[in-house]
Amino acid sequence: QHKVIFDTDPGVDDAMALLFLDLHPDIDLLGITTVFGNATVETTTRNALFLKQLWNIDAPVARGAGRAIHPDRIEGPPPTFVHGDNGLGNVAGVPETVSIEPDPRPAAQFIVDIIRANPGEVSIVAVGRMTNLALAIALAPDIVDLVKQVVIMGGAFDVPGNLSPAAEANIIGDPEAADTIMTAPWKVVAIGLDVTHQTIMTRAEMAEIAEVGGPKAQFLSDLSQFYIDFYSHVINDGMFVHDSCAAVYVVAPELFTMRRGAVRVSCEGIAVGQTIQKPDGTFFPPGPWDGMPSQDVCVEIDASAVMALIKRTI
Ligand code: BDR
Ligand code: CA
Repeated sequence: QHKVIFDTDPGVDDAMALLFLDLHPDIDLLGITTVFGNATVETTTRNALFLKQLWNIDAPVARGAGRAIHPDRIEGPPPTFVHGDNGLGNVAGVPETVSIEPDPRPAAQFIVDIIRANPGEVSIVAVGRMTNLALAIALAPDIVDLVKQVVIMGGAFDVPGNLSPAAEANIIGDPEAADTIMTAPWKVVAIGLDVTHQTIMTRAEMAEIAEVGGPKAQFLSDLSQFYIDFYSHVINDGMFVHDSCAAVYVVAPELFTMRRGAVRVSCEGIAVGQTIQKPDGTFFPPGPWDGMPSQDVCVEIDASAVMALIKRTI
C-alpha cells in the first residue's frame, strides 16, 4: 500500500485524481489538503469536503493556503471559465456549505504531522499551487528527509505553458513556492504539460465510464462536461487529465520516462513561472542550478496505458 497525501485545488481534473486515489486498491489515502488555484481556497476546501462526503472517502481534509507565499504577489480572479463558478464545472447539487468540518490544523501542519508519523513512507501528490508544501518545509525542515517522494503535476519544461508561453498554471500561481520545493533536498517527480497534454479523456470515454462505473463515476462525468466544453478550442471533445497523471505515477512509475537534473523556477520578468531543468551531464558557465539537487522531470509517458489504468480504476 502506497501512503499518499493529496494536495489539491478541486477543480475538475483534481476531482478525477481524487476519485482515482480513493478507488485504487494499492493506495492508502491519508489526507487531503486544499489550496487556492482553480477557485478560492474557501471553494476548493468546500469542494474537497463535499466530494469526501458524496464519495464516502475515508480521509481527513485540511484547509491550506489562500494566496501565494510572497507578499507582493497579487492574486487574479480564479479561472471560473475553466472550472466553473463552483470549481466543479457548475455541476448541480454542490451545496453552498457542507455539514462536515475540516481538520482543525492548517494544511502545512497537517502535512508535517502525517509525514513525521509515517517516516519514509509518504508520497505527497501535489496538483495545485505548491504553497502548502513550501509552508510545510518552513515549519519543519526535517520533513525533507522523512518524505518518500513529492510527485507534482506542474511545469512546462520543453513545451509552452498554458497561462503564458513560458508558464504552467500550478507554477506561475506561486513561483517562489515552486522554486522552494524544486530545490529542496527531497525527491521531486515533476509531471508537467510535456506529458499531461498527451493524456486525453474523450467525452465518449467519460460517458462509457459513467455507464459502467456507478453513481460516483456518473457524478464525475457530470462535473467534467463544462471542462470538456472549455477545452474545445484545443481538443476535439475531450479533456486533459493533468492531475490524474501524478496520481497514477505513484502506482505505475514504469509508465513514465524521467530526465534527471536540477530544476529552477523563474520568479520574475516575462518568463515568470517558467520551469527550467539543467539535465545532469550538461555543462554551462556557473549559474543558479549549481549545487541544487537533481530532480526527475517526466519527458515521456505511455499515455494509452495511463488512460487505461484511470478508466479501469474509476
Ligand atoms: C493544472 O492547473 C489546473 O487548472 C489543473 O487542475 C491542473 O492542476 C494544469 O495546468
Ligand atoms: Ca489541480
